[in-house]
Amino acid sequence: MEKMLYEGKSKSIYEGPDDKSYIVRYRDTATAFDGKKREELDGKGALNAAISHIIYGYLEQNGIETHLIKVIDDTTALVKKAEIVMVEVIVRNVAAGSFSRKYGVPEGTELQNVTTEFSLKSDELGDPMINNSQITALGIATAQELDYMTDQALKINDLMIGMFSKVGIRLVDYKLEFGRCDGKLILCDEISPDSCRFWDIETNQKLDKDRFRRDLGNVLDGYRDVLSRLTGE
Ligand code: TYD
Repeated sequence: MEKMLYEGKSKSIYEGPDDKSYIVRYRDTATAFDGKKREELDGKGALNAAISHIIYGYLEQNGIETHLIKVIDDTTALVKKAEIVMVEVIVRNVAAGSFSRKYGVPEGTELQNVTTEFSLKSDELGDPMINNSQITALGIATAQELDYMTDQALKINDLMIGMFSKVGIRLVDYKLEFGRCDGKLILCDEISPDSCRFWDIETNQKLDKDRFRRDLGNVLDGYRDVLSRLTGE
């Protein structure tokens, strides 16, 4: 195996075959609460890789530029080397999680418009929400980059709502990351039940990492359900 460059909470990054790429490996480690809760879930890496690659393929087909070059095997992919922008874009269609806690809105409340927000990528600080003028004041990203990421996030949201509503899944909220590559911003990192809230449209059953965060049990059954709906198998 190539040299490991970075070990994240649930993925490891290795040197790629050239200086423009990396190899990403999805591991079975599940973490929550900024890494404070941690467990190995046998097969999670392959499930997340498969789900993320289906979503990325669909987004690419619909004109969204992403870091994915090609899938190597069931847990690894070749991706473009990019300089990750140190803010996450959180997109919400339905109130849940920190939004519900912060604003006192019951989980499951349909929002009257899509919301986007940024949070600082820092486990140490607990990924605090940060606004545009704070991000530009700290030199983390430019105003143009923030506008572009927001615009892309809204396009991605339309595409993902279409994709998931067809298979009976309510796309509640999720996190996106972008990276700078060849003078452009491209979509990076994974889109999976680790980074999204997916609820069954009929029953509102959770099919995502909240089953791990909230000790609801059968965590990977939810992930398997998402994958089998997307593949139709
Ligand atoms: P949010 O409700 O802000 O946080 P929490 O999960 O602590 O209640 O999260 C919104 C969505 O974004 C949710 O689907 C989880 C995802 N997310 C991540 O994947 N990573 C992160 O670091 C953050 C802050 C959110």
